[in-house]
Amino acid sequence: MSESNPLPENCPPPELAVIVPVYNEAGNIEALTEQLRHSLQGLDWELIFVDDDSPDGSTAKAQEIARRDRRVRVLRRIGRRGLSSACIEGMLATVAPYLAVLDGDLQHDETLLPSMLQTLKREGLDIVVGSRYLEGGSLGTWNRRRRSMSRFASRLARTLVKADLSDPMSGFFMLNSTLLHGCVRNLSGIGFKILLDIFASSPRPLRFKEIPYVFRERRAGESKLDNAVLWEYLLMLLQKTMGSMIPVRFIGFSLIGGSGVIVHMVVLWVLFRLLGASFISGQAVATLVAMTTNFFLNNMLTYRDLRLRRWQLLRGWLSFVLACSIGAIANVGIATYLFQAQSYWVISAFAGILVGVVWNYAVTAVYTWRHKAG
Ligand code: GDD
Ligand code: MN
Repeated sequence: MSESNPLPENCPPPELAVIVPVYNEAGNIEALTEQLRHSLQGLDWELIFVDDDSPDGSTAKAQEIARRDRRVRVLRRIGRRGLSSACIEGMLATVAPYLAVLDGDLQHDETLLPSMLQTLKREGLDIVVGSRYLEGGSLGTWNRRRRSMSRFASRLARTLVKADLSDPMSGFFMLNSTLLHGCVRNLSGIGFKILLDIFASSPRPLRFKEIPYVFRERRAGESKLDNAVLWEYLLMLLQKTMGSMIPVRFIGFSLIGGSGVIVHMVVLWVLFRLLGASFISGQAVATLVAMTTNFFLNNMLTYRDLRLRRWQLLRGWLSFVLACSIGAIANVGIATYLFQAQSYWVISAFAGILVGVVWNYAVTAVYTWRHKAG
């Protein structure tokens, strides 16, 4: 009877959700929240921290704030890593019509959010992008290596994305949620380059605008962008150009497999030619060494997000060697069978290798890295 309790349906979601991926940002979370509260005054907003179970207690810090302010939410992912996938899942965790992505280390300029929202709405755009390269923006104090890495990546990006973006590597943007929902199934979700992923995955050209901002200096914590990020970036480009028929992990796995051939040959040459070991023992040791380097490279790169550590490494290495040994037997068996059947040695060899690689990939994905399909 009473009318004092409003129905839950009368409580619409906020207009803007700010997604903040964090990994070891405990020292920045509070200051960032404070600055956002200040900048977003007068707007209806929520803030979603996506934390990949950081060891430094970022989740606890964010939860502490969320307990006092229901506009702040925390998405805690366990056993997962990755900036892009964190952003995607954060964006999927809200029904707000406008979504912003902002780094959690105070390097992005949160004071621009209200004008980004206004521009997005007023001009009916799909996305507004913060750019360090437009007149008025700046890279701040990046060292030369970081600058040239960024420039190289931007140049590669232009081959992939038709849009004339001055800063395709930007991690600071705001978009209309319909854009996300239209392309989310096509996103690769790999690595750091979520913006590029969105541009490359959208079925139609995007209506966008760039606004300049100054990339601030990091005060607490450290950057997570390392050389492996470049590798992930190359994989993402490869996948985007080759289509999604081939899983990107398989591409990485095969490239590393190729590097194993080189390792094998070098070890064999040293043992057999330089040190005078017998061919068979040289070959056996070379095989084991190549399998081992392949295992560690895959653990570092292909399965970076599911990386095995400490004692898991031993179990992982054993299962990897076992799987690859069976793969090698299959490889030789099939190649021999085909060679006897039609005697084209190159085709037979390739078929054997292909079966071996697919086998190794499929089996180690499940047994070594416990990767669930996808
Ligand atoms: N959840 C989660 N998981 N967050 C992560 C991860 C992860 O695996 N890796 C990094 N982050 C968070 C960081 O905590 C930080 O809030 C943000 O993502 C950016 O990471 P940084 O390590 O600070 O990257 P950066 O400053 O070197 O580069 C950033 O700025 C560039 C310019 O806009 C990134 O946003 C780049 O993508 C961007 O090009
Ligand atoms: Mn940063």
